Amino acid sequence: MTNSILVTGGAGYIGSHTVVQLLEQDHHVTILDNFSNSSPQVLERIQRITGKQVALIKADIRDRESVRDAFKSRQFDAVIHFAGLKAVGEGEAFPLKYYDNNVTGSQVLLEEMLQAGVNRIVFSSSATVYGAPGQTQYHENLELAPINVYGRTKRIVEDMLRDTNKAQPQLRIALLRYFNPVGAHPSGLIGEDPNGIPNNLMPFIAQVAVGKREKLSIFGNDYPTPDGTGMRDFIHVQDLASGHLAALNYLAENDSPLIVNLGTGRPYSVLEMVNAFGKACGKDISYQFSPRRAGDLAEYYADPALATSLLGWTAKHGIEEMCMDTWRWQSDNPDGY
Ligand code: NAD
Ligand code: WQD
Repeated sequence: MTNSILVTGGAGYIGSHTVVQLLEQDHHVTILDNFSNSSPQVLERIQRITGKQVALIKADIRDRESVRDAFKSRQFDAVIHFAGLKAVGEGEAFPLKYYDNNVTGSQVLLEEMLQAGVNRIVFSSSATVYGAPGQTQYHENLELAPINVYGRTKRIVEDMLRDTNKAQPQLRIALLRYFNPVGAHPSGLIGEDPNGIPNNLMPFIAQVAVGKREKLSIFGNDYPTPDGTGMRDFIHVQDLASGHLAALNYLAENDSPLIVNLGTGRPYSVLEMVNAFGKACGKDISYQFSPRRAGDLAEYYADPALATSLLGWTAKHGIEEMCMDTWRWQSDNPDGY
């Protein structure tokens, strides 16, 4: 069935890949984004991939008037809420900026969607909400104890949505806890385009490969992992995007809250990623070992079984595709959009 979906943050990395899949499934999509961490160029790329039009509202989710107008512009069936800030270090330095953008912004959005009679929301949560639980595989029923400001903003929004769902059961919620998104659309037309020096591993490796950075610093080679470097559950952004479509289908048919991990369940080490990327791009990635980064854990990965049983969803793309698709995007767009 064709639905009309409002996608906040739809010009961003994960949002843009999800919008492509929504359009491919014949949904009508409106992106609401303030472009604080993305480029309007994305819209044209999405249209090139899909041959379909996407509506745009340039607005901030904290701006109540604009959000209200957005809900007046069309009767939406659901909201997918990606808009937010996500840099862990920046959150520590500017906590109020993060609480304002992520928490206040989500509250305004939620109030206005309910006011407009829109009763389904899929929210971008994060594995960060688990904190440091003392085990490496994360199941959804672990206690949430985030260890940084960014993670706490995600937990608060999860609580806000769960509490509102309890009080107003007509609100249907999906909280998707992403692990480490990597990769790009196989066309090479959209991908991750960080501002400045990348915080995350994969975009840093890609920029070394394309000659924009000299070498990667690998933060720590003395972790209790097989090769001593950190291990993460990297998940292809195309798999993450398909998880959102599965969540929308779930909300159309179920009124119980959906709270699931989106990961592969198979962690890779930093060195394994570096070596796989080297194979994909046909050159060695220069690196040096550096001290551990504050706040990093040795290893964590998803238990993805609940998402599989509730949604029939599993991640399909492996490490080779993660690296090949990132490389295609990076080499075709060395300076991003
Ligand atoms: P991104 O920065 O590429 O996309 C976020 C988009 O939201 C950007 O287009 C940005 O301009 C927009 N935005 C930010 N604040 C806004 C506001 N106040 N009003 C309107 N638009 C606003 O990030 P992403 O990697 O695509 O992440 C999407 C969501 O997923 C975020 O909520 C993030 O916290 C969450 N998440 C990301 C990761 C990750 O590693 N990429 C992991 C777990 C969760
Ligand atoms: C992965 C591994 C680093 C960069 C972060 C957020 C998390 C989520 C995803 C939003 C670690 C190592 C990295 C580099 C390195 N985002 N590394 N050199 O820290 O697992 O997760 O992004 O929700 O909240 O914390 O991802 O890509 O930064 O790091 O050695 O230059 O790569 O130490 O072991 P992380 P990452």
